Amino acid sequence: MGSPDAIFGVTEAYKHDKNPKKMNLSVGTYRDDKGKPYVLPCVRKAEEQLLKMNLDKEYAPIAGIAEFCNRTAELAFGNGSEIITNGLNATLQGLSATGCLRVGAAFLNSFFPGKKVIYIPNPTWFSHTSIFKHAGLDVQSYKYYKPDTHSFDFEGALHDISKIPEKSIILFHACAHNPTGVDPNLQQWTEISQMVKKRNLFLIFDMVYQGFASADIDNDAQAVRLFVKDGHKIALVQSFSKNMALEGERVGALTITAASKEEAAKIISQVKILIRPMYSTPPLHGARIANHILGDPKMKADWYQEVNGMANRIISMRAKLRDNLKKEGSSKNWEHIANQNGMFSLTGMTPPQVEKLVKEYSIYLTSNGRISMAGVSSNNVDYLAHAIHAVTK
Ligand code: LMR
Repeated sequence: MGSPDAIFGVTEAYKHDKNPKKMNLSVGTYRDDKGKPYVLPCVRKAEEQLLKMNLDKEYAPIAGIAEFCNRTAELAFGNGSEIITNGLNATLQGLSATGCLRVGAAFLNSFFPGKKVIYIPNPTWFSHTSIFKHAGLDVQSYKYYKPDTHSFDFEGALHDISKIPEKSIILFHACAHNPTGVDPNLQQWTEISQMVKKRNLFLIFDMVYQGFASADIDNDAQAVRLFVKDGHKIALVQSFSKNMALEGERVGALTITAASKEEAAKIISQVKILIRPMYSTPPLHGARIANHILGDPKMKADWYQEVNGMANRIISMRAKLRDNLKKEGSSKNWEHIANQNGMFSLTGMTPPQVEKLVKEYSIYLTSNGRISMAGVSSNNVDYLAHAIHAVTK
């Protein structure tokens, strides 16, 4: 018997719990303020319009829906980006971030001319290590986080990056780092970009939370745009699982930037050869929804508003949880819960404290003390604060 998944395994355990007060704060899935799964109004509207179009269900091309790829790339690189107008982006539709990372890693394992070793932040999302190992890359890490101050370890990161052997691969979370919720600021990104250039590294941006860090879609792409402006060639992974709450539809895109239009075409041709024996072609429905929303200015504006609404609800829950912990009488500093970005808070709770939360309060979270703030609502934030205080005092 294999061990349960570090994230989805927790949800399985939650489902079996009979406590009416139980909370699932393990997986990063957006919930509304009643704690219910959320389908964005713009997504519902797109589905209704798509249904009326009576589209067929034949295979998508191996590289996915071309229009979707163009619009998704534009979301990352920005309107009028030279990468796109010059045809330098090799963009393919993929199976959300996991699928795109896996395919991107396979491509690098086959074609990257440097070392087949990737440096990922410590800590990082649970699946990064297994995805890259599965694709045959060697996985190493660089410092990212200072647990004592709950902050980005800029000096540590820069120092570790300066020691990475030239022509290796490095991964960055573009925004709303998972699990820490702390990101470099623009000045720090600028210095990191210079260091990455100095070490001659190839980089992958994992951008899953565009819109959740600053509640602004364009602002959240600032690191990606900066690195491109600085002349880096990058791989970029995008997902609509979070910002369109399309988790189960598996919608994402992989972009690899090229030196010329011809090179971009060659990259696409090679990635297609890798995709075909893995899953043949990507699913249509979710990409059609995203494409429809991105292609209609009114719907796109509605979507921006809805992402903003989701991000702001999470931000308000962060403040509420911090305040309630104070009210409970906690003498600990919980300011970081309010300051962190995106869907998650790395609370600083230890594995025994996490175990107590699960066993005594039926509050389910990952063993590293990460809580999905998206699962916190007006109905359960008091109970959560009470329980966190009880296990940490
Ligand atoms: C998470 O970290 O909870 C999400 O990204 C879901 C996943 O696939 O792990």
